Amino acid sequence: AAAKITVDPSFTVGPVRRRTFGAFVEHLGRCVYTGIFEPGHPDADVDGFRKDVLELTRELGVSTVRYPGGNFVSGYRWEDGVGPAGRRPVRLDLAWHSTDPNTVGVDEFAKWSAKAGVEPMMAVNLGTRGLQEALDLLEYCNIDGGTALSEQRRANGAADGYGIRMWCLGNEMDGPWQIGHKDALEYGRLAADTARGMRMIDPGLELVACGSSGPTMPTFGEWERVVLSETYELVDLVSAHQYFEDFGDLQEHLTAGHRMEAFIRDLVSHIDHVKSVKKSTKQVNISFDEWNVWHMSRDESKVPTGNDWPVAPVLLEDTYTVADAVVVGDLLVTLLRNTGRVHSASLAQLVNVIAPIMTEPGGRSWKQTTFHPFALTSRHASGTVLQLAVESPLVSGGTTADIAALSAVATFDAEKGEAVVFAVNRSATDALTLDAAVAALGNVRVVEALTYANKDPYWQASADDSTSVLPSENGTARVAGGQLTAELPAVSWSMIRLA
Ligand code: AHR
Repeated sequence: AAAKITVDPSFTVGPVRRRTFGAFVEHLGRCVYTGIFEPGHPDADVDGFRKDVLELTRELGVSTVRYPGGNFVSGYRWEDGVGPAGRRPVRLDLAWHSTDPNTVGVDEFAKWSAKAGVEPMMAVNLGTRGLQEALDLLEYCNIDGGTALSEQRRANGAADGYGIRMWCLGNEMDGPWQIGHKDALEYGRLAADTARGMRMIDPGLELVACGSSGPTMPTFGEWERVVLSETYELVDLVSAHQYFEDFGDLQEHLTAGHRMEAFIRDLVSHIDHVKSVKKSTKQVNISFDEWNVWHMSRDESKVPTGNDWPVAPVLLEDTYTVADAVVVGDLLVTLLRNTGRVHSASLAQLVNVIAPIMTEPGGRSWKQTTFHPFALTSRHASGTVLQLAVESPLVSGGTTADIAALSAVATFDAEKGEAVVFAVNRSATDALTLDAAVAALGNVRVVEALTYANKDPYWQASADDSTSVLPSENGTARVAGGQLTAELPAVSWSMIRLA
């Protein structure tokens, strides 16, 4: 079967936003402790950060990193994580039934972000805390000096403010599991008060209101309506979170991108409904600040119970298949395709916890399958996202019927003189011929064509073997007479660069 697209730089969706390539570091499991931070590790730097993880983070091409949670933030006292390490209190982390030594806090995270070359994105606690603590944290982080909290930061070693632009007003406050969970009106009012106060310190902040924890939440839609009715003129973005699990039906798993697209479409309607009712000229957009494949119902995600409050336990350490990587590639294609309204996104998470980067305590680090499509897309998508007129055979999986087998996006960078097509074949069984009209690009040739697929789509990388299945050259990709053709195997992600 063949799928057709037209790649024409005259038809654009919007800019490729660096913030689409964000990730997330939460105090959860081994993401922070023995993930980014492990002072005793042979590869640790003077600040205790693992240099191997810093290197992999740079290679992954991460832009923003959200911190410190997640569910964790809703019980977090940020003051616990600043000041002399020996004097920081050890606390229970109720969200993940763990013990947090607080040896990493906002100062360490800011330092790590600078070393990793990423933009920090901070979340405030609107679960057990509120406006005053959010204002205190903002003062501590962003005021250069001359006030009690900014001078405290300076005394703790950071002479200049961190200038953090993006702030999440709480996390998943719609979820009954959230510490301090609220109904939409309670949260909306608290978020509005917090936003108003934070903007009195700095009107230029980019603020994210909590949207729904996923499209299946019973309150999805109504939550957005009420929260945005309270906050519309005060925030810039509303969050979206969505995870996808492989329940054993590969074809269904491969429809994840379609389900994300439907969520974005619905969320845009809910945002724009409030905009219209308020007759506002302001446009609120989406921060898709948690997305990934997460095998949530497997043992890996079982939170400790009872008297067991471990420090940095093995939690949510999913290992990913090639099929999962194809899904991740497709989710990124979907986020890019929606760049008009998705202005920021964070892969959840970065290290060990449902992550593309894995570490052994005291030992090696390695790349999961999902590392590859993310790193390649981040490295090569630039300039403008193009509108492709896709004609594709259909596939059906589980409850998702008749969706396009081809999921594609193209970017065009006029300065580089390069167009890049990212294409996913969502069929679990059939190869697809990509047939792309590229005459509008001029006389281009294939600079690089890589495909990620494997005879066994369930192959997983491990610490011992993370390199035997890698994206490899797709020798079928060629341009002739203004047409690009390429064979896309079943369950595959491909990147074709044209110049
Ligand atoms: O990313 C793991 C968890 O998923 C986060 O802590 C929470 O926000 C979401 O439910």
